[in-house]
Amino acid sequence: MVGEADGITPAELAAATPLASQALAGVKQLSTSGVIGFPDLPQHTTLAKEIQAYAAKLQGTYDTVCLVGIGGSALGAWALDCAARGPHPVQGEYSAAKPRLVILDNVDPEFVQLAVASMKPKKTLVVVIAKSGATAETVATFLIVRAWLIAGAGAKLAKSRIVVVSSEGRGDLKVMATAEGYQTFHLPENVGGRFSVLSAVGLVPAALIGIDILALLKGAAKMTALAWTPELSDNTPLRAALLHYLALTKKGKTIQVAFPYANRLWGTAFWFRQLWAESLGKAKNRAGETVHVGQTPIAALGTTDQHSQVQLYMEGPKDKVFSFWTVKKPADPGKIPVEKTGFEGFDYLTGQSLAKLLDVECKSTQAALTENQRPNCVFTLDRIDTEHLGMFFQLLEFETAFVGEMLNINAFDQEGVELGKKFTFGLMGRKGFTDFKKRYTDYEARRKG
Ligand code: PA5
Repeated sequence: MVGEADGITPAELAAATPLASQALAGVKQLSTSGVIGFPDLPQHTTLAKEIQAYAAKLQGTYDTVCLVGIGGSALGAWALDCAARGPHPVQGEYSAAKPRLVILDNVDPEFVQLAVASMKPKKTLVVVIAKSGATAETVATFLIVRAWLIAGAGAKLAKSRIVVVSSEGRGDLKVMATAEGYQTFHLPENVGGRFSVLSAVGLVPAALIGIDILALLKGAAKMTALAWTPELSDNTPLRAALLHYLALTKKGKTIQVAFPYANRLWGTAFWFRQLWAESLGKAKNRAGETVHVGQTPIAALGTTDQHSQVQLYMEGPKDKVFSFWTVKKPADPGKIPVEKTGFEGFDYLTGQSLAKLLDVECKSTQAALTENQRPNCVFTLDRIDTEHLGMFFQLLEFETAFVGEMLNINAFDQEGVELGKKFTFGLMGRKGFTDFKKRYTDYEARRKG
């Protein structure tokens, strides 16, 4: 519909079908050989039940869950909280019966101080999440929050108010947690941060704020079954992957706009940005050739960003593909009162609903983009509940893994992030990283000179 120069023709799709089958086989092989663990996470129901039992034991004793973590150790929880408990910042009252989630994922001192000042130490549960157990931002913030907790609640209570999620076999965070007797949960070594929302990384904070984590895993299990289906026409994640791969490599669509038309999916859009960016942005392919490949993910919110970004999307560079995320049945239609005002610009809306307006605006934006030769697709969730969310997370994770295979890259490492982390360790004086301090000093000298 957008024309051959920008859209994927049925013939191009048919010609690329063998590549999709290869990608499916590649991800299956990585999964069965244990190189990657995210496809198996929906089966980890025993762990989910242990987490639920832990949450049930503490229920009623806290009104705030303070999550200290960053990147893949924070964004899944944010996506879940936003979708299940309500969009930020209008989640409503919080209490011991309906605890809130405060995520400390940035080391901006003003942000951390304001957040800490808003919490009561005796009513706060601290969840520290770091797979490596050593991320500077997480460790620094944890040291502040831990000292605040001990000062306000006493050392004894503080011990029972800290829960750690990390790798089982490495990292100082795990060593400290064992020494101090903190509750710990682990994520498998073969599950990377951005693929970890269905591991203890997402499940622990989710259970603590009252989300039904077994329903989440149930939805994800359904999508996993679909993702292993060999037929391209039945396999939604594989088809989405192939279309995005072709849009990137054949049509020059180097940007993907994730465009939810639901505030509850706004957190998921930010979670997805990390998943797509860190997994697919790579310098080398598996053959060791320099490729500098990737598709830049952008998050836009409908209808809000129709009045901010859409001018660029319609008329700017033809470098984007659009993924609309819509919801069939919003929980509340948002009736507009039946009240004639006598103003022509108002009265056509009376008696209708916000849900209809949102839907019409979304469809109108799709039609206008199509007329302007901008390729777009739609993912529709029947409704936003925990089960559908589990399905959607797993769909996007499989889609990402499949595109990685099609590009012949390793979608599961993140060397680009690691270098920045090492410079930080060097500059903050961590033992074993003096080389990186020197490398940074040389760079500064070159910049100035
Ligand atoms: O996807 C990833 O692996 C990263 O984004 C990590 O989640 C992020 O760097 C945080 O790492 P850690 O959980 O070790 O603190």
